[in-house]
Amino acid sequence: MNTIEDTIKAIDAMAASLLLTEYASSRPDLIELYERAKSKQWSAADLPWETPYPARGLFVDERMLSLYGTPYYQAMSPVRRAEYNRLETAWVLSQFMHGEQTSMLVCGQLMAALPELDAKFYAASQGYDEARHTEVYRRYVGERLGLVYEIDEQLRFLCDTALKAPDWAMKLVANQVVIESLALGAFKTLFEAAQDTLLAELLARVMQDEARHIAFGRLALERALVECDEPTRARYEDFLATCTQMMYYGFFPAAVFRDLGLDDVPQLRAYVNASEQRRLFRSNLFPQLIPSARSIGLITDRTIGRYRALGIDVA
Ligand SMILES: [Fe+2]
Ligand SMILES: [Fe+2]
Repeated sequence: MNTIEDTIKAIDAMAASLLLTEYASSRPDLIELYERAKSKQWSAADLPWETPYPARGLFVDERMLSLYGTPYYQAMSPVRRAEYNRLETAWVLSQFMHGEQTSMLVCGQLMAALPELDAKFYAASQGYDEARHTEVYRRYVGERLGLVYEIDEQLRFLCDTALKAPDWAMKLVANQVVIESLALGAFKTLFEAAQDTLLAELLARVMQDEARHIAFGRLALERALVECDEPTRARYEDFLATCTQMMYYGFFPAAVFRDLGLDDVPQLRAYVNASEQRRLFRSNLFPQLIPSARSIGLITDRTIGRYRALGIDVA
């Protein structure tokens, strides 16, 4: 099984670093976002790490577990339900942690590769945000939940694309549009389900930062997409459509089911796909991602059918 360490070792392509000779400020919109980022910094130490554990060991509302309401869940004893609750929460938060570390690395690459100094400043501030996010998830998963899961195969594909992209615009599409939107949608879903007040507070703070990161993607890409040639633009559009399809069906906590001794994967996939958790995730993700991607030209008439085929509202 691949781990995030394998992913890191596999990086063999990245955008060229640009040491700029032009120091004049040209992007007041990015500077404003950078100033906001600096004024909103917080520390992992600000979180109430000593909060007592949630009642009955249920970290999230059981109705938001991917197998809730299925015969598998009904057959579990209360002790087994609590264990499943901890394992699935650990799996979800492990994915967040792997995604955050990836974003931190991509920010380092963007800092080097972006062609405007104001954008480099912002990428530097975001890198610090992502370091803090990786830190708080590492602590929550390691100390509170006591186990870390490997990276999901589909998430690894997204992370690899962002890390290995040879041009900065593709890195922005992968990291600032796809991974950030996915993160915000998934964080919101878990926030709404959280029964551990420490988890809810942690997610609320991280989400405030992620909203800025999405805004950066939009501002940094708008002009770049207008200026790039058609084949390049088509490549970005196709990538977003492929990722949207992947995110629609979502990630599958195979390792959790393996640890629970459940092995009927097709049946499990069908249950997960029809779960309330998945429905809520879609409703937290797509209404934010789709209009934003459409407004900057990442969804055009050429690819719109792929979204409609999934039943996603693309006005
Ligand atoms: Fe983050
Ligand atoms: Fe982020």
